[in-house]
Amino acid sequence: MNESYINSFYDRLPGSYLFSTIAHKIKEYQGVHPEADIIRLGIGDVTTPLIPEVIKAMHKAVDEMAVKDSFRGYGPEQGYDFLREAIVRGEYTARCIEMDPNDIFVSDGSKCDVANIQELFSENVKIAIPDPVYPVYLDSNVMAGRTGTLQADGHFSEVTYLASTAENNFQPDLPKNPVQLIYLCSPNNPTGTVLSRETLQKFVDFANETGALILFDGAYNCYIQDETLPHSIFEIPGARTCAIEFRSFSKTAGFTGVRCAYTVIPHELSKLHAMWNRRQCTKFNGVNYVTQRAAEAIYSPIGWQQTKDVIAGYMRTAKVIRQELTAAGYTVFGGEHAPYIWWKIPDGEKSFDFFDRLLATCEVVGTPGSGFGPCGEGYFRLTAFGDYERTKIALQRIKEKL
Ligand code: MLT
Repeated sequence: MNESYINSFYDRLPGSYLFSTIAHKIKEYQGVHPEADIIRLGIGDVTTPLIPEVIKAMHKAVDEMAVKDSFRGYGPEQGYDFLREAIVRGEYTARCIEMDPNDIFVSDGSKCDVANIQELFSENVKIAIPDPVYPVYLDSNVMAGRTGTLQADGHFSEVTYLASTAENNFQPDLPKNPVQLIYLCSPNNPTGTVLSRETLQKFVDFANETGALILFDGAYNCYIQDETLPHSIFEIPGARTCAIEFRSFSKTAGFTGVRCAYTVIPHELSKLHAMWNRRQCTKFNGVNYVTQRAAEAIYSPIGWQQTKDVIAGYMRTAKVIRQELTAAGYTVFGGEHAPYIWWKIPDGEKSFDFFDRLLATCEVVGTPGSGFGPCGEGYFRLTAFGDYERTKIALQRIKEKL
């Protein structure tokens, strides 16, 4: 095929997707060291099995599919009412946030939703993204041709970066340049830090004043331990006229392999609400019935308790990572309201070099901070989603060998 017919913006993407690069590096190491006992604290993938209530709901839904009267074919593209209503009750009403079930769009993953949402906007809108942050926001806009070109300093020429660093206590300043789309992620992936109510109010006021839209990724909100911290952008007055929220069952309920998430578009944003609905109806056939029944099951009283217990298990792992690294003299952030620990690499070593050294000396895998943006250079992300005992072995190796 003639290459001039191909979307050339893909050529502007640096290398491969971050987690594919990491997977490739691990495979390479394992090829040379087949006996290696590698402990993976890299990609944020869950390891605890699904809770009993979810399994029970799945079995029941499978049985329904085996009977003519309860069999279901295509479901509604927006999600079944039973799940949309359960989400509203369990996530929003429970936190005194008013929400209409029709504002919930159930999907098969937040990664897809945060990557696809940019289709609703014209190609010349300008975006702002936190730095560091989950790479999908940037990559999907690079593919759409909105970002300009990659500069030597690791920044794209047309993107506004919102530095989120230890120096500003991980509370980014408002964009200095005119922007129309502002991505925010709290608890932040990768730093594991949370945006305060004051910071969110500042962004909401700014968006309402300038006509910008906030794309708020709350995939990790269930890890927030302090109930006074904001879990949802919709806790912030004014957010319904300027924000869309992304939520996922992946990290909340261990659904990374099951696939279920939802995007909230308030009906106040009527044009975007209608456009997303149109998009989903055209390009998406809904999440399967069994999975939606499984997701619903986390909102029963028993399901919620079991879900909280799993989260508490991961937070126990986060705590031990924080404690052990701190005791060993390292500086760490995050891990208190999120399953990620943001580890400052000593002596100015580059984060990809540190990845190689950690793998070679300790056979432990993490994620290099620079993969999340230029401000992530000099940092390293560890996940608390690994097995507790194996994580303790990893920390022991780090203390003894690094
Ligand atoms: C991560 O490690 O950052 C996550 O697993 C990525 C994702 O949720 O897609």
